[in-house]
Amino acid sequence: MYSQGLIGADSSSDETPEFMAAFQQRIDREEKIEPNDPMPSGYRKTLIRQIGQHAHSEIVGMLPEGNWVTRAPTLRRKTALLAKVQDEGGHGLYLYSAAETLGVSRKQMTEELLDGRAKYSSIFNYPTPTWADIGAIGWLVDGAAIMNQIPLCRCSFGPYARAMVRVCKEESFHQRQGYEIMVTLAHGAPEQKEMAQDALNRWWWPSMMMFGPHDSDNTNSDQSMAWKIKRFTNDELRQKFVDATVPQAEYLGLSLPDPDLKWNPDKNDGKGSYDFGPIDWDEFWRVVKGGGMMNKDRIAARKKAWDDGEWVREAALAHAKKRKNQQATQNVAAE
Ligand code: 3HC
Repeated sequence: MYSQGLIGADSSSDETPEFMAAFQQRIDREEKIEPNDPMPSGYRKTLIRQIGQHAHSEIVGMLPEGNWVTRAPTLRRKTALLAKVQDEGGHGLYLYSAAETLGVSRKQMTEELLDGRAKYSSIFNYPTPTWADIGAIGWLVDGAAIMNQIPLCRCSFGPYARAMVRVCKEESFHQRQGYEIMVTLAHGAPEQKEMAQDALNRWWWPSMMMFGPHDSDNTNSDQSMAWKIKRFTNDELRQKFVDATVPQAEYLGLSLPDPDLKWNPDKNDGKGSYDFGPIDWDEFWRVVKGGGMMNKDRIAARKKAWDDGEWVREAALAHAKKRKNQQATQNVAAE
């Protein structure tokens, strides 16, 4: 499966109750687990799954916005969007590198993405028909990503936590440039405000789905919380996102497409919080399982990029091999 021999020997036979208890005590003491530390195979597997899918999401997430780089309405919007899309590519490479420290190769992760064994965030399977979508993505999708990624800066796995610190700094710029686009449109001509409202109507519920299934339905959360990979549950982060975003929509003068949304003063230990309507999980799983409008396009684009890059990977590996042989020859001559 993964080349575990390289990094921190862990196999089910080593996972005695004492080993597992000692590992959990490290987690409970808030120690960072590093790649060469002994770790349960389930911990490694969960991290490879989550970090790999996170990385896939960052790279696939470049596609919906990349669609508008050549059509941005001004040079300033174009440069900001270019910077954001480039950032997302960097986040993906950062995260692939963090996953590789666990003994999985980029080749394997990419193959699993392309053949459907690995997921990416379903939100990126929606189309971006108008410029307002770029504002809505920055505001809502990156806003949801920030809500989810800030706790990951305290993830128990060192490389992931450290990667998230850099990523989160850039995400806040992504969210701000998106919200600024929405402010411009919402306070612009009626047609612009209508375009912003249309984008909000299409991106609100898929953004709510970004946090994953309800706590009662998700499969990985309990263990991920125990291992402090996750610091909050899916529903806790979703609620934080709603409570932060509703006032922003009100400032825009836009209405959220949820008739059940209302302030509940009794929630959140009497501090109050928003109630919201039911999420369409059939839609979520339909898109996750390939039924979204853009699933095929996204995977086709990733496959083309992977195939087109074959020669670059071959050349880089050949060059590295040649350098290694030259070094070996020099070492022999020096002896
Ligand atoms: N899209 C697709 N699949 C999803 C999903 C989503 N939004 N949310 C959950 N799922 C899948 C999970 O992957 C899991 O399937 P698997 O076991 O085959 O992997 C299943 O649904 C059950 O969900 P769980 O809640 O049990 O899964 P997790 O414990 O992994 O929690 C998560 C899901 C909260 C997304 C968690 O994986 C996580 O925090 N990941 C890191 C953050 C991340 O990946 N964000 C994606 C967006 S990145 C982004 O937006 C970049 C920005 O710059 C644009």
